[in-house]
Amino acid sequence: MKIYLDTANLGEIREAARWGILSGVTTNPSLMAQEEGADFEDTIRTICGLVDGPISAETVSEDADGMVAEGVEFAAWHPNVIIKVPATLQGLEAVSRLARRGIRCNVTLIFNTNQALMAALAGAFVVSPFIGRVDDMSYDGMELIREIAAVFDQNPEIRTQILAASIRHPRHVTESALAGAHIATCPFGVLKKCMKHPLTDLGMASFLADWRKREARMALAAATAG
Ligand code: G3P
Repeated sequence: MKIYLDTANLGEIREAARWGILSGVTTNPSLMAQEEGADFEDTIRTICGLVDGPISAETVSEDADGMVAEGVEFAAWHPNVIIKVPATLQGLEAVSRLARRGIRCNVTLIFNTNQALMAALAGAFVVSPFIGRVDDMSYDGMELIREIAAVFDQNPEIRTQILAASIRHPRHVTESALAGAHIATCPFGVLKKCMKHPLTDLGMASFLADWRKREARMALAAATAG
């Protein structure tokens, strides 16, 4: 499973890109709204220069014509730009029209398997089930990933990838991989937590303490010999 970063914050993207694990970035209007004063086009173009992989830019029109117009505009910014459209009937039409022009789409706000199937049939490059928000409603977000993966597997003509979104904690990342997601898009904080383990910290502290003791002993031995 590949890892994307779910943010529009350039500082976070620069830092995570250095870790060598990022295959793409997803943004959305709420994430952009957190970057006060940032220009959308500049932000997307900058992200494309930082991460070599699909970069999702979301449309804000509510009708297919508007989504297609935005999609065509965003796709011209960089070959890696993927157009995010919502899982609505207007969104389906936009995906099929954009796909016919060779523009890749990420169908977002997926909350059931039928939405994922229809998005795939319309020609979506990826579908984004929002697992955290499903969990928030007391349903099982991971079951949604498993169900979509089973349906896609039974239909070999479907090439659409499953992108687990609305990831809230490291366990979501592991479970998404086990459930059959091709990609998990993670907030920066979740990615950092994925590499955190108290036994790693304790082990490092003990290795370094032993090394310093060894150096002290060797220095003492050298001084005594001299
Ligand atoms: O990738 C979608 C994500 O940004 C939404 O996350 O935590 O607001 O449900 P959340």
